[in-house]
Amino acid sequence: MEKKTYYITTPIYYPSAKLHIGNTYTTIAADALARFKRLTGYDVMFLTGTDEHGQKIQRLAEAKGITPKAYVDEIVAGIKDLWKLMNVSYDKFIRTTDDYHVDSVQKIFKQLYDQGDIYKSEYEGKYCTPCESFWTDTQLIGGKCPDCGREVEKAKEEAYFFKMSKYADKLIQHIEEHPNFIQPESRKNEMINNFLKPGLQDLCISRTSFNWGIPVTFDENHVIYVWIDALANYITALGYNSDNDDLLKRYWPADVHLVGKDILRFHTIYWPIMLMALGIPLPKQVFGHGWLLVDGGKMSKSKGNVVDPVVLVNHFGTDAVRYYLLREIPFGADGIFNNEIFIKKINSDLANDLGNLLSRTTAMIEKYFDKTMPSPVEKEEIDNDLINMAINSHKRVESHINNLKIPEALDEIWTLIGRANKYIDETTPWILAKDESKKHRLGTVLYNLAETLRIVSVLISSFLPETSKKINIQINADITTWDSIASFDGTKAGTKISKGEAIFPRIDIDKKIQELNELREQQMKANRKEQEMEPLKEEITIDEFEKLDLRVAKVLECEAVKGAKKLLKLKVNLGGEIRQVVSGISKFYKPEELIGKNIILVANLKPVKLRGEVSQGMILAGATNDDSKLFVIDVPEELPTGSIVR
Ligand code: ME8
Ligand code: MG
Repeated sequence: MEKKTYYITTPIYYPSAKLHIGNTYTTIAADALARFKRLTGYDVMFLTGTDEHGQKIQRLAEAKGITPKAYVDEIVAGIKDLWKLMNVSYDKFIRTTDDYHVDSVQKIFKQLYDQGDIYKSEYEGKYCTPCESFWTDTQLIGGKCPDCGREVEKAKEEAYFFKMSKYADKLIQHIEEHPNFIQPESRKNEMINNFLKPGLQDLCISRTSFNWGIPVTFDENHVIYVWIDALANYITALGYNSDNDDLLKRYWPADVHLVGKDILRFHTIYWPIMLMALGIPLPKQVFGHGWLLVDGGKMSKSKGNVVDPVVLVNHFGTDAVRYYLLREIPFGADGIFNNEIFIKKINSDLANDLGNLLSRTTAMIEKYFDKTMPSPVEKEEIDNDLINMAINSHKRVESHINNLKIPEALDEIWTLIGRANKYIDETTPWILAKDESKKHRLGTVLYNLAETLRIVSVLISSFLPETSKKINIQINADITTWDSIASFDGTKAGTKISKGEAIFPRIDIDKKIQELNELREQQMKANRKEQEMEPLKEEITIDEFEKLDLRVAKVLECEAVKGAKKLLKLKVNLGGEIRQVVSGISKFYKPEELIGKNIILVANLKPVKLRGEVSQGMILAGATNDDSKLFVIDVPEELPTGSIVR
């Protein structure tokens, strides 16, 4: 009989920065599912890869003075290393710079154009001339270019568009007729009500303002805009539009595209519409998982709170990280990554529950049976509860995984582990060991524990593959199939066991947290150095500079401006003359913090009125890159009020 197939994908990652724990989360979840399906008899295709085109990548490469291809090659190698470290068992890694992908995407574009789904028109956006880039209104930050912070202007660019609206009704119908298509449920409603029902706009799918992308074959000034290029990976990876599409026939339609909620829209609207236009069946399911947050919200480089999975693995091991992500983050909702909770979980669930079960069992077999697995010859009624739970766990675990309930599957396994620990307390093997006539009973108890551990090892193998192997070595288990855990006899009596090191040594929380904090400080310092420098402004002459009149002034009075949240009103003395200055710094200073301070004033700035208050001059201040902190420039005490600064 032919095996059932299972095709699972992760998003393809932008090689624009180092991957963090959030990106890692998607891929580890996909890996656990892929491994589980292989274990339970499926023919699995697990795809991941990188999304390498676009203006941002081109810029990053230019800033480093290398070609975009050289730039992505280096980062992609790092991403592959990360997946190796995380034990990610992908079957195929696609890069959107791979020739077969480029070729296939060009054919897709041409076909859609030929059949009238793509047309040429003009794209209107905001243009930043120094950066040569188009931005949409939502991309702008405070109305300015998100890259350099300068003014942008309205501009038009010739572009190709995809007629999305043509397929909207058909898509709504598909979503309604296939309740599993978008999961979780809440996200489905969001897609329908917020995006599909209000009406779809045609999607701009080409650019002429940069060239790091797949060229449109029949109009070489245009490169294909990233989403069409990126989404196509799920079929080009299987040979769509190539000489050999065996994989496509075997695995398509995908069983599940696993994506973060931020890109669910692209996967549940643009992607299905693309497929409909190409006449290809839609994937069976798109699952949008939640956001991994850290204390203080989203991770960002400027906040310095980005969690680096490599650091975590170095300190705690791959399986500890996998365990935390898979068990603690509700699959589908947002979850928090926190070092303290993480370490507590390692200590309680891994070191204590699982680790002790293994070390106690193997230590007793070593001590009482000379490292030889005893046989279960003297059964008692009290064994049945443990045995029944052990041989039935696989059904519950499988049913949770089939519903993509990963934490619930792990809960099930830890319930069994807890039951086995309780069995040790109930049967008190150390007391049995004191009585030679109880030797057979003692052997049976230890056999039952070892056999439960064998079953646990098979159950956790998709989630914690390394740990599973370590357990197998210690209890000398060689029967590790899924089918074998439906009965309680896979452990072989008479074989030698080999008790080893603790699989998860206990961690001293305070010490470890301190170590991690110090490491983070160091990294932040390094990052600060690494931060890209703001582009310099246009050159000026000394004469132009001389036009500025900068004076040291003392703050005499300071108060908030009524009705204006950001503004402070100051009276300053600049060495003879008293002035009123209004400054937008109330987020950073309380009035009393400024009184008595000497500051530097741009004294010959043309007066303006802010919220009805006259401001005669401007105070010099500097802000951090992310604008989270601002400092009024300090003046050395020795410099008297009224001094000229130049
Ligand atoms: O979006 N928590 O790539 P990407 C959880 N190239 N998931 C997170 C996360 C967080 N804090 N931050 C990011 C792209 N992710 C496109 C995809 S697919 C055809 C093209 C997830 O590198 C994010 O939701 O920006 C996404 O699923 C994945 O990381 C890759 O993000
Ligand atoms: Mg993203």
